[in-house]
Amino acid sequence: MEYRKIGKWGLKVSCLGLGTYLTIGLRCDEQQSYSLVKTAYDAGVNYFDTANAYAQGQAEIFLGKILKDFPRSSLVILTKVWAPMGSGANDRGLSAKHIREQCHASLKRLQMDYLDIYLCHRADPETPLEETILTMEDLARQGKILYWGISEWPIPFILQAQFLAEKLGARQMAVSQPRYNLLYRYPEKELFPVTRQLGLGHVTFSPLAHGMLTGKYLPGQTPAADTRAADPETNAVIMKMYWTEENKQKAQELKKIAKELGATAAQLAIAWCLRREEVSSVILGARTVEQLKDNLRAVEIKIPEPILKKLDNIFPPPAAPNIV
Ligand SMILES: NC(=O)c1ccc[n+]([C@@H]2O[C@H](COP(=O)([O-])OP(=O)(O)OC[C@H]3O[C@@H](n4cnc5c(N)ncnc54)[C@H](OP(=O)(O)O)[C@@H]3O)[C@@H](O)[C@H]2O)c1
Repeated sequence: MEYRKIGKWGLKVSCLGLGTYLTIGLRCDEQQSYSLVKTAYDAGVNYFDTANAYAQGQAEIFLGKILKDFPRSSLVILTKVWAPMGSGANDRGLSAKHIREQCHASLKRLQMDYLDIYLCHRADPETPLEETILTMEDLARQGKILYWGISEWPIPFILQAQFLAEKLGARQMAVSQPRYNLLYRYPEKELFPVTRQLGLGHVTFSPLAHGMLTGKYLPGQTPAADTRAADPETNAVIMKMYWTEENKQKAQELKKIAKELGATAAQLAIAWCLRREEVSSVILGARTVEQLKDNLRAVEIKIPEPILKKLDNIFPPPAAPNIV
């Protein structure tokens, strides 16, 4: 396993992390969840990614139970706040009240006394940035969190938050968690260049476009049972963002190219994310140990330049802005 710094900060994460969305605490029972975590840990994964809202707290509960006997210093735990956790007016968002309450609730569910990284799951335009920044600063001073960060915030929010944190004498955000894969290359356009200047590190999600980039969804066919795309409880995002005949065809091309390298499509898609120095870690979303073992081998793959060019042709980068 390779370990990379989070941007300019001192924390080092395994370049492959293990995620818990729609898997641990939802589609995986306790035994399967334990096997996933143990397989990842034994392969050198130190970074485990979760959120308060994943399976309404169950992902954190499962992860906490599994990790309680692992040495805490060998783990980097990231959880998130923002998504609704109840129907009350204050049960969501990034207010001081909700962040503080959910931080304590997450620590309880995880059976831990601090979080390595606490992430704002999305932006909350109803709460002033100062309020969120100062709450993160307070939690850090109380020893409840070490670093904080954001996921999928618009660039102007990121810039303003860094400026305000400096002005307030509060710690700046250290981590960004964007969606990044061959079918979704937008972070290359603005997010990566801007945040490089700010020293933020990226832990990227959905490297396989919810499974589309494994090539297992065949053109002209409906999804096989037991896949994320087949289950109405889990398929909202894949159906909305990736489910087209063109993408299924592209994934078949990816499979052929991967074969030239002696790799699987999943390994090539993950290794492709890792090629960027802005990426500190790619979060894996495996549901089975077999998938996880497949995906972990991505770390061994170095992609030659001609293959990168072929991939650019099939999965073009976002167009540059048209400045005249
Ligand atoms: N910040 C955010 O808003 C955000 C959003 C999404 C995710 N995340 C984090 O990022 C993690 C990864 O995201 P993701 O789950 O979307 O990742 P992904 O890698 O794009 O999709 C994972 C899914 O693809 C399928 N899969 C994975 N490896 C496979 C293989 N080798 N062969 C065949 N199928 C395979 C599995 O689904 P099936 O087997 O069920 O088909 C698996 O659950 C999450 O667990 C979460 O921690 C964060």
